[in-house]
Amino acid sequence: MATLIFLLLAVLTNPVFTAPTHPSPHEYPHPANGVCTDYTIKEEVTWTRNIWGLPKIQNNYDVAVQLMGMANVNKEATYHPFSGSENVTSTYELSGTFCSPTKKRIRKEETVLLATHGGGFDRRYWTSSHKPEEYNFVEHALDNGYSVFYYDRLGLGLSPIISGYEAQASNQVELLAKIAHGIRSGKYTGQTAATKIVLVGHSLGSFFSNGAIAKYPDLAEGLVVTGFSYPNATDPARITLPISQSFQSARLDSTRGDAYFGFGDIYGLTVGFFHEPLDIPTIEYTLSISQPVAIGELTTAEAITLASPKYKGKVLIAAGEYDLILCGGYCADRFKYGVQKDVFPGAKIETYLHPSAGHGLNFAANASVFYDRIIDFVDRNL
Ligand SMILES: *[C@@H]1O[C@H](CO)[C@@H](O)[C@H](O)[C@H]1NC(C)=O
Ligand SMILES: *[C@@H]1O[C@H](CO)[C@@H](O)[C@H](O)[C@H]1NC(C)=O
Ligand SMILES: *[C@@H]1O[C@H](CO)[C@@H](O)[C@H](O)[C@H]1NC(C)=O
Repeated sequence: MATLIFLLLAVLTNPVFTAPTHPSPHEYPHPANGVCTDYTIKEEVTWTRNIWGLPKIQNNYDVAVQLMGMANVNKEATYHPFSGSENVTSTYELSGTFCSPTKKRIRKEETVLLATHGGGFDRRYWTSSHKPEEYNFVEHALDNGYSVFYYDRLGLGLSPIISGYEAQASNQVELLAKIAHGIRSGKYTGQTAATKIVLVGHSLGSFFSNGAIAKYPDLAEGLVVTGFSYPNATDPARITLPISQSFQSARLDSTRGDAYFGFGDIYGLTVGFFHEPLDIPTIEYTLSISQPVAIGELTTAEAITLASPKYKGKVLIAAGEYDLILCGGYCADRFKYGVQKDVFPGAKIETYLHPSAGHGLNFAANASVFYDRIIDFVDRNL
């Protein structure tokens, strides 16, 4: 009894920050303007597993040590988290949703936007319940006649829990490719026959979408990477990226298995994802749907091959004007040096800078204007 009281007191007097990372299915409402079906995606993939070579991460000091390693300017020489790699075949399950518009418009619903969320979130990044008319991307796309497939990446949201050492770039790129094939073959689209696919990513989801196009150039007709852009070799933001990433991943979060990092607190989330003027209710909502990020993703994403010389489709690259994680807080020049043309030499490329926004574009001021820009790109190009 004394122990219980002590524990209770410890909890009450020492509030530990926790974001709700174990959501239940009713927290994933379907958009009102869609005909939606939930899918359990079960796919076998062959991928290159990086084998963790350091002691296992046990506490927040271990997290701090990893972040120092990742942020080190000399990390290529000093930070070696893996002891080797092996090619393996694994079967994974993911939870996803397909929606076609309630109001159909001449075959537009046959174009499917395949949305992959970034680090710190799950598929709810695309379907905000907070001010949906402003922030809900799926609702916006459905209003404009397009179908959307959106899913929880490995280990997150309603997808089964797996180790944070296991969720890596390679298996996620392969899974995304399987989902796209499943959409094309009708496996994940109910009555809708998909004739065109547009991969839409945010941040880490953009890495994986770009990585999938680089490896499988015929996977999709369009690619929309958001919270993303291509720095040149001497861009100073290459150095700030890993440091600013630590705002989002300052704390061990064991609710999803081992080696997942969560936002340190709401202020870390604000630094990493927002920009003034701050809309506090929106930031609070964003935290309420947040998820951690796996160490396996943080340590493997940068090594993905992005160069897509064989891709002949259409590309839209969108960044927030003041994205700290991506551009060190200043993205205005990012497209000027033309690195995107080296990444996609055979594609038609458009770029967009969303005014006043930070990294979290879907929760930025005037997000619906940003969505209009994506819809306009798809309308004109596909
Ligand atoms: C894994 O497969 C790739 C492509 O087939 C190959 O290039 C690579 O060397 C393999 N890696 C290992 C560790 O066997
Ligand atoms: C690379 O980017 C930096 C910062 O955006 C810029 O100052 C520099 O001129 C660029 N270099 C080249 C070769 O384009
Ligand atoms: C949002 O758009 C409106 C209308 O164009 C503009 O007046 C306002 O300044 C924008 N908000 C931000 C934060 O950029």
